[in-house]
Amino acid sequence: SWTASNVVEDLVETIREQVGQDRVLCALSGGVDSSVAAALVQKAVGDQLTCVFVDHGLLREGEAEQVEKDFVEATGVDLVVVDARERFLTALAGVTDPETKRKIIGEQFIRVFEQAARDVVHDRGDVEHPVKWLVQGTLYPDVVESGGGEGAANIKSHHNVGGLPDDLQFQLVEPLRTLFKDEVRQVGLELGVPEVIVWRQPFPGPGLGIRIIGEVTADRLALLRRADAIAREELTKAGLDRDIWQCPVVLLADVRSVGVQGDGRTYGHPVVLRPVASEDAMTADWARVPYDVLATISTRITNEVEEVNRVVLDVTSKPPGTIEWE
Ligand code: XMP
Repeated sequence: SWTASNVVEDLVETIREQVGQDRVLCALSGGVDSSVAAALVQKAVGDQLTCVFVDHGLLREGEAEQVEKDFVEATGVDLVVVDARERFLTALAGVTDPETKRKIIGEQFIRVFEQAARDVVHDRGDVEHPVKWLVQGTLYPDVVESGGGEGAANIKSHHNVGGLPDDLQFQLVEPLRTLFKDEVRQVGLELGVPEVIVWRQPFPGPGLGIRIIGEVTADRLALLRRADAIAREELTKAGLDRDIWQCPVVLLADVRSVGVQGDGRTYGHPVVLRPVASEDAMTADWARVPYDVLATISTRITNEVEEVNRVVLDVTSKPPGTIEWE
């Protein structure tokens, strides 16, 4: 019968046979799949594994810390953190077109990861134990419908580190290839991966970069990160995490409207709440979040996030609206 502990045992055995004494590299994104894949490989071959986390500065509040601190504490992985926040901001300066943003973020990610991979190969590998393997968090549905889903295809193009230069040829370890998402979560829990990571909702590779409508700047990221954290906190508190597929919070950075806050008139930005219910992100319905939860989120965001004076709700299904605004 299927139990997470049997599955872990089998997969650990398979990984050991596959990689032998070679060294292994893994790109951690903070998402469920790469985290569980890394935890499995860590259990199988321990310090033969090095993980690389590229902090592009587009993650949500607390997420970099969850990888750098909680995940490392829970699993004991050897982690290399690349602080690329300035680099991404510089590359994104002045850019407003959604596809251009995606392209820039994808390209920068590959470049930064390539350099980190070279450093790991140089620092951690040796002739007898070269860094030969790259871990990928590919799931069963990705294998079956490869190229099928819009979201899946996007995810692949953005985390596709297969296009590495000739001097960095890796073979792939894909320990989650036979598993569905819910099974991956069970395996993650069995391995002691922190629950905030195991139960994380989908989050796009380009992160908050495509949730700021307009140019991405450090100030705007700080604003959005705060508003997003408040929305997530209240949805969690209301027990809605499992009912809601995800709830993008979108900053309309180039829109201003008049408001009154405290003693005076303000001229601030709106944020959009985009809670959706979905099975697979291909289609989605706008989620009927209870009014009192929406009210609390709205009050808190406008009280706590200076410069945001209006909270609006997106009541569009997919189609015609995509889940993300960009
Ligand atoms: P849309 O906006 O197309 O999103 O309805 C469908 C799902 O995919 C996620 N998404 C992305 N994921 N890179 C990703 O890794 C991307 O560029 C990207 N764009 C959208 C989105 O969050 C949703 O879950």
